[in-house]
Amino acid sequence: MKLTVVGGGSTYTPELVDGFARLRDTLPVEELVLADPAADRLELVGGLARRIFAKQGHDGRVVTTGDLDAAVDGADAVLLQLRVGGQAARERDETWPLECGCVGQETTGAGGLAKALRTVPVVLDIAERIRRANPDAWIIDFTNPVGIVTRALLQAGHRAVGLCNVAIGLQRKFAALLGVAPGEVHLDHVGLNHLTWETGVRLGGPEGEDVLPGLLAGHGDTIAADLRLPRPLLDRLGVVPSYYLRYYYAHDEVVEESRTKPSRAAEVAAMERELLTMYGDPALDEKPALLARRGGAYYSEAAVDLAAALLGGQGSPYQVVNTSNRGTLPFLPDDAVIEVPAAVGRKGATALPVPAVDPLYAGLMANVTAYEDLALRAALHGGRDRVFRALLAHPLVGQYALADRLTDLLIAHNQEHLAWA
Ligand code: G6P
Ligand code: MN
Repeated sequence: MKLTVVGGGSTYTPELVDGFARLRDTLPVEELVLADPAADRLELVGGLARRIFAKQGHDGRVVTTGDLDAAVDGADAVLLQLRVGGQAARERDETWPLECGCVGQETTGAGGLAKALRTVPVVLDIAERIRRANPDAWIIDFTNPVGIVTRALLQAGHRAVGLCNVAIGLQRKFAALLGVAPGEVHLDHVGLNHLTWETGVRLGGPEGEDVLPGLLAGHGDTIAADLRLPRPLLDRLGVVPSYYLRYYYAHDEVVEESRTKPSRAAEVAAMERELLTMYGDPALDEKPALLARRGGAYYSEAAVDLAAALLGGQGSPYQVVNTSNRGTLPFLPDDAVIEVPAAVGRKGATALPVPAVDPLYAGLMANVTAYEDLALRAALHGGRDRVFRALLAHPLVGQYALADRLTDLLIAHNQEHLAWA
C-alpha cells in the first residue's frame, strides 16, 4: 500500500508517522511518501520519520519529494494537510478581524473565510492531479477549513472524506473520565466541522446506553474547564459543545482576551522552530513530547482508522467524518458537508441517521452552512461582492458596515494568495 501525505513537511507529520508505525496491523503502509515544496523542513521531518519507522521495526519505505505528481502516482490514499501561506498567513487571519471587534481565528469567522479563499483553489488543483494519477485514490482531507474544503472536493466529484480530531479527542477524554477503553465510547456527534455538539455519549456501541447526563453530573467541572466555558452553561445545555463553540457563545470575551495575548500562530511558530531543531537531531527516534502541545492530538489514530476503512482494511466501520448531508439533517441542503458518525468502507462514508436536532443547535448549523456555501462560491469565483456576501451571512458578522470593513481587510491581507484581487 502506498500512502502519500501532501504537506508532509509539516511539524505534525511525526505524529502521523508514529500512528502508522504503531497501528501497522490496521494499516500496512509499504511506501509512505512525504510531499512538500519546503525542502529543508521535509528533510528534517523525513529523517525523523525514517528513524521512527526503524525504531518501531516498521519495514515501510519513507520517500520525501517536492514533486507532487510523482508523489501521488500510484498512491492508494492521499492525506492533505497543507497550510497555504504558512503560519504567517494564519497570524494575519488571527489578528486583522480584531480591528473590527471580531474574533480572529484560523477556521472561524472572517479569518476562516480568508483561509478558505487561499486554500480551496490550491486543494482543487492537487485533487485534479491525484485523480489524473489514479482515479480510484481516496483523498483524506485534514486541510482546514475542513467543511468548506471537503464540500469543494465533493462538488468537483472527487473521492474525498474530511477529517478532524475534535471527535476522537472528546472520545478519548470521556473514556478516561469514565474509566473505560476509548473503543467503548460512541459519540452522538452532530454539526459541521468546528461547529459540533456531543448530544449523547453511548457505551458499548452506537445503540448503547447514553451516559452523558451522568458524565456531566460527575465531571462537568473538568469538561467545562477544558472548554473554557462556565459549568452552569453546560448544565443548562445538557450537551457538550466543541471548544470552537466558545468563539460563538463567548465571542466578546474571546476578542477581549485576544487583544492582550500572543496569537496562536505566534505560539505555534515558536514551537515549530523548536520542533524542527529537535527533528534534526539524529539521536531522536520518536515523536517528542512537545508535539503534544499542538492541537492535533490523536490525529494519527483517526487518520489510520479512516484510511484503513476506505482501503478495505481493518478500520472501524463507524467513524465521525465530514461527508455529504444527503438528507441526514433535514434542515440542511443535501450537498452541505456535515460532521457526524458515518458508516465507512471501500465505497466511502455514508452518514448514519441522526436524532432530531434541537433548534438551538440546528439554527446555528443552518446559518453557518449558508455561510459555507457562499464562502465556497467566493473561493471558486472570486470577487469582492462574493466575499462581502459570505461575511454578511456569517452569524458572527451580520451587519453590512462590518462586513464591508472586514472584506477590505481580508482582501488587503491576502492579495498575493488571491488570483482575482
Ligand atoms: C485541532 C483542530 C485542527 C486544527 C488544530 C490547530 O486539531 O481540529 O483542525 O488545525 O487543532 O492546532 P494548532 O496546534 O496548529 O493550533
Ligand atoms: Mn479540525
